[in-house]
Parts: sequence; C-alpha cells; structure tokens
Amino acid sequence: MLIAIMCLDKPNHLDLRMATRPAHLEWLKANVPDGVYIGPLFDDDGETFKGSLYILDFEDIAAARAWIADEPYYKADLFEVGDHAPQQKHFPSYLVRCFMLPDPDELAGRVLCQVEDLAATKAKDVIIKNGDEQYSIMVVQWKGDIHAFVNSCPHARVPLNMLGDTFFDLTGNYLLCTMHGAHFRPTDGYCTRGPCRGKSLRPFPVEVNGNDIVVVPDAA
Ligand code: FES
Repeated sequence: MLIAIMCLDKPNHLDLRMATRPAHLEWLKANVPDGVYIGPLFDDDGETFKGSLYILDFEDIAAARAWIADEPYYKADLFEVGDHAPQQKHFPSYLVRCFMLPDPDELAGRVLCQVEDLAATKAKDVIIKNGDEQYSIMVVQWKGDIHAFVNSCPHARVPLNMLGDTFFDLTGNYLLCTMHGAHFRPTDGYCTRGPCRGKSLRPFPVEVNGNDIVVVPDAA
C-alpha cells in the first residue's frame, strides 16, 4: 500500500541536512522501494529546504516504520514531526496518523480489542479507522487494570513501537519509545526518563465490558 511519510526539519538545522545529504543520497540508491515520490519540501520561497516527503509502496505500516528509522536524515535526528503542514490530511501516512488526534466522543462504543488479546505482551497496537482517517491506540494491561493511550510519543510524535505489540521495556515496568528510549508509566503515561521527561502520553478513555475493551466518551 502507498504510505506517505512527511518529515519536517527542526528549525535552523540546514547545516545538518547538507552535511547528511551525501549519505542520504547514497543510502537511497540501494534502499528505495517502488513508489510515487521522494523529494524535499521547500519553504514558501521555493528554495529553502523545509523537510522531506516520501510516498512509497510498503507492505504494511511496520515496513514503513522500519524503512524511515534507517534513513540517514532520520538517524541524524534532523526531523521533527509537526502538525502544521496543511497538506497532511491528504496523505494516508502513518506519521499523519500519529499527529492527528482521535476524538473519543466520535468513537464511543467502538470495541478496540478483547482482554485476552493482551495476554502475551500485556499491550496491543490497535488501528482504528474513522472515515478516511486512521489512528493507532495502544491498549495496555497493568496489574489487572486496562489503560489506553494514543500511540504517539510526545518527543517527536512518532509511534512508540517499531514492530508489533511490544511496548514494554525489558523490566516490564515501563512503556518504551523505541525511537530515543523514553520511558512512560503504564498507569498514566507519564514520562519518567528520556528526552520528553515530564510530558505524558495522551490518555484514551476506555472501559472493560465483559471481555471487550470499549471506547467511552471523554469525561474532560
Ligand atoms: S520519539 Fe524520541 S523518545 Fe520517543
């Protein structure tokens, strides 16, 4: 499926972009899947680099995540993911999915998964669709209670997990962002360690109804 990955440069990082560009171009020669577009994004002047856009054919979201995680600009920490690019809603991008926030009131009553789905990993990455939009919600079981959060790290607004339903760190006590190692409490999503320390995952309201984990309206 075609997936668009839109990445915006951090402010005042042109030097890093230009220094990394040779490695980026060399890497692309051997690592480009079929697709529609690879190229830079420019500022309004049409000249100043502002980011990169990839619209490529991946087997699934996990493959897209793995691909961008290995891309030299991304590895050099050039990009931030913002929510201010007006064209973002036009792309079925996993990055778009991460920084568009789902509205629990619209999704109330939707069954995310069953409690037994959490047995193996104590967590599950649930993709929910609402019209043309789709979101990733992480559902977590911790000491008998169920919690859910929008799967978007407050550091760079990318998903915490690279692959599958593995969200917990090796101790099993914290949710781990695989991108830069932020640790989050599974009870309230508070970041205790890492680049977004002091920030929190966005909670997503759910309740257990029998064996179903169901979206409920936001009480706030
Ligand atoms: S994206 Fe950097 S810690 Fe999550």
